[in-house]
Amino acid sequence: MMYKKYLVTAALPYANGPVHIGHLAGVYIPADIYARYLRLKGCDVKFISGSDEHGVPITIKARRLGISPQDVVDKYHNMIKDAFQRFGISFDIYSRTTSEIHRKTASEFFRRLYDYARLTEKVTEQYYDEEAKQFLADRYIVGTCPKCGSEHAYGDQCEACGSTLSPMELINPKSEISGSVPVLRETSHWYLPLNRYQVFLEDWILKGHKEWKANVYGQCKSWLDEGLQPRAVSRDLSWGVPVPVNGADGKVLYVWFDAPIGYISNTRELLPDTWQSYWTNPETKLVHFIGKDNIVFHCIVFPAMLRAHGQYILPDNVPANEFLNLEGKKISTTDNWAVWLHEYLDELPGKEDVLRYVLCANAPETKDNDFTWKDFQTRNNSELVAILGNFVNRVMVLTQKYFDGKTPEKNEFTDIERELEVTVYHMRRDLDSCVESYKFREALKKMMDFARLGNKYLTDTEPWKLAQTDMSRVATVLNMSLQICANLSIVTEPFLPFTAEKLRKMLNIGTFKWERAGGIYLMEEGHQLSSPELLFEKIEDETIERQIAKLPKAANQSAGAESAAKSKIAPQKETVSFEDFGKADIRTVTVVAAERVPDTDKLLKLTIDTGLDKRTIVSGIAEYYKPEDLTGKQVCVLINLAERKIKGIESQGMILMAKDSAGKMCLLQPSELMDNGAEIG
Ligand code: MF3
Ligand code: ZN
Repeated sequence: MMYKKYLVTAALPYANGPVHIGHLAGVYIPADIYARYLRLKGCDVKFISGSDEHGVPITIKARRLGISPQDVVDKYHNMIKDAFQRFGISFDIYSRTTSEIHRKTASEFFRRLYDYARLTEKVTEQYYDEEAKQFLADRYIVGTCPKCGSEHAYGDQCEACGSTLSPMELINPKSEISGSVPVLRETSHWYLPLNRYQVFLEDWILKGHKEWKANVYGQCKSWLDEGLQPRAVSRDLSWGVPVPVNGADGKVLYVWFDAPIGYISNTRELLPDTWQSYWTNPETKLVHFIGKDNIVFHCIVFPAMLRAHGQYILPDNVPANEFLNLEGKKISTTDNWAVWLHEYLDELPGKEDVLRYVLCANAPETKDNDFTWKDFQTRNNSELVAILGNFVNRVMVLTQKYFDGKTPEKNEFTDIERELEVTVYHMRRDLDSCVESYKFREALKKMMDFARLGNKYLTDTEPWKLAQTDMSRVATVLNMSLQICANLSIVTEPFLPFTAEKLRKMLNIGTFKWERAGGIYLMEEGHQLSSPELLFEKIEDETIERQIAKLPKAANQSAGAESAAKSKIAPQKETVSFEDFGKADIRTVTVVAAERVPDTDKLLKLTIDTGLDKRTIVSGIAEYYKPEDLTGKQVCVLINLAERKIKGIESQGMILMAKDSAGKMCLLQPSELMDNGAEIG
């Protein structure tokens, strides 16, 4: 399918805090690369985002600060917008969901669904605070977690154990607003009957979009496999877009209903007369850039809304990323464990592209990934400075020296040049296919390959030596090298726009179209260059030490013996999907016999009763348990681990043990005697 127009959207960040590197690596950098690339190709593209200004967390923040929700979103909207702009994120519009046009667009959207009977209405009982005289959002109810006993669980989630909860599950619920005990009251809400779209979504995603990223496709599949249920799209709240129906006073649209409509309203604000020619046009390619926590809303709920509405196109792709960690730990806004964009821009001025580079190189495209300041320094010093900056500088200086800064002529080609010409051409095409398949890390490598190729060319031809014998060869080599620099001025533009601009200035050229990259006729003979400038500077240890020192101490460094021990605790491993965890078959089993494995200090051979069979496992626990201590004990065993021969004995499973940082180990036992073969999970 040849698309005529492109809508590139980047998730609307909540306007209740500043933007950090996790947002950038997950959403805004890839989206910006993609939008810039399409623009350079001459496509008709609109890059849309804005602030997500509704939702309960914003009202909570306002209450805590003693200001109005509008004050909260005004503050953060401006802060976020400004930081994105300084960072070179090239939105065509960055608007907000408290705008008049958004309210109108979202209301019309809801109203159309309502009028065409695409919504259902249902009365349920919900917690009501009689003192504050309002229904309580899930987040406004606290109580004891039924799963772990933590006394500060919220109505939607327990942060202590991570369980998802519903308010009704909380033991001793209290209102966060007044502290009073809430009562149940009937309330009526509108629902989007997702079940009606089950078959459509299965066809569209599972059959029609097998090319989506595995993480995205997998999440959609598991939602669809579970069977979709109607979802409430209104809430009893005063902050939000009012439900546009008579008698719905005190009710607003659920934030996840109004926010994605923000993509449409922001386009409408940008193009008051022609926005529909994008949103209703089957020849528009719509691509949503988001983080993994947004997948269900962009792949299931919003498409169902669009389908219910009936006039708008659906996304062609939703290249969601996983999460970025910081120095081995999950980024946390509440613990201030983050690198904030606005602070970075203030503290490391002129290094926008360094951050863009590092975050793209480490983008969590297929799994969670880690940002460290050390890696930031290394990538700057040994990649940006040593490869890209160095190549351009060598070419500029040599051209200055031998040809007064004028592009010399191309003389006769040798095999090296003939090969170079072909290589450059192919590199451009490879780069295109990476960007078009949303593989931005690989694309960035391909971009750097232009500089690598240039460096290799200079090293192979050694123009500084040729200068003693063959100036006509030197001319050819520097001409070709300048062609590579000009190529770099194009291919760096989507990734490193500030660098691309510097490069164009040095080369004294304008912006070429993307299609010119891959060619070797960009710089004309005799064209005068400007004076050389360094593209990147080395980053010294002090710079990154200052940044590391800024991270909160308690979480970062040892303040005492206790936290010293803590810091040795193995960092959390990469996230596994439910599906993957579900593959591990862990059971309660009884050890029926145990003996030492001859000629070893550590190994015991155990015979276990799994309820399914009796089998042998070999375990490295002889230092902690004597054979006679184990016989008769019930323990937990991973029974479907691939078989392994240990000291000639076939081991058919693994006994579960806990091991602390001091090396102490112990067995895990069920807290009550169970039947053998009970499943653990
Ligand atoms: N505000 C949401 C978040 O940060 C994203 C909203 S995306 C939109 O997770 F589609 F709803 F706009
Ligand atoms: Zn809990």
